[in-house]
Amino acid sequence: MKVLLATSKPFALQAVQGIQNVIETAGLKFEKLENYTEKSQLLDAVRDVNALIVRSDDVDGEIMDAAPQLKLIIRAGAGYDNVDLEAATSRNICVMNTPGQNANAVAELVFGMMIFMQRNLFNGNVGRELINRRLGLYAFGNVAKKVARIARGFNMAIYAYSPALTHDDLRKEGEYGVITAYSNRELFENSDIVSLHMPLLEETKQCVDYKLLAYMAKDGLLINTARKELIAEDDLIRIMEERPEFQYVTDIKPDKHEVFMEKFPNRYFSTPKKSGAQTREANRNAGIAAAHQTVMFFKNGDDRYRVN
Ligand code: 3PG
Repeated sequence: MKVLLATSKPFALQAVQGIQNVIETAGLKFEKLENYTEKSQLLDAVRDVNALIVRSDDVDGEIMDAAPQLKLIIRAGAGYDNVDLEAATSRNICVMNTPGQNANAVAELVFGMMIFMQRNLFNGNVGRELINRRLGLYAFGNVAKKVARIARGFNMAIYAYSPALTHDDLRKEGEYGVITAYSNRELFENSDIVSLHMPLLEETKQCVDYKLLAYMAKDGLLINTARKELIAEDDLIRIMEERPEFQYVTDIKPDKHEVFMEKFPNRYFSTPKKSGAQTREANRNAGIAAAHQTVMFFKNGDDRYRVN
């Protein structure tokens, strides 16, 4: 059994050593392809592998066809929109993610970004504090729950809306101290700062549009540590043009990054490279969880984190 770790954006060395250790201790072969830049390198590397562990690396039907022995793909992370699930299912390949493993890293980054923006990119101009401000969490999964817990320490009022959860479910989350919003409109109306935490699905594509953004406070801040496709970029540009105090911060460079930079240099920021899960701890958590899940899959047929 051969397991390939293929990461164009590599994990920290410690995490890679941990993955290798778990795989080899279980008697499986371990190989890695790090920092690759061309799809052809991945196509070559998968030829004789049984399992593939990736991060945001695109895995499509062509990659799967180049790997006739492939039985398992693990996305070491939360979002699996980079893996073609239909292609995997039709080839009888199991796809899993490692939910929750990098959630704390992303949640901490949300606050780094929030303070950076509310203090005007540290340019010395008068900014805002977080205390008593209203924070809206769009979706309430692993990351949002950690954001809520940290937000309580800042004494923020926390609202949450999740299309995937009922209000009773959300109310059960009372320990997080969130107020449930009954609709995304209510969430945006009640928030000074909105942080996006939903997965990229057909139904969430471009769901943050002009109509929704217009419900937010005039001097609102939108934080995106999820996926760029969730936002209708032209609509966000329009809102920022109409509202000279509205801010946007993102960990995923928008397609219209240059336009945002040119028009709103003091109230827009995009990390140069996606940094949410880029901590030693998150790399270890997600990487080693992926390795254990691989071993359990081949030893016991355990597919509890299957997503297809
Ligand atoms: C995730 O979905 O887990 C995050 O977006 C992290 O992605 P990354 O592994 O590409 O940093």
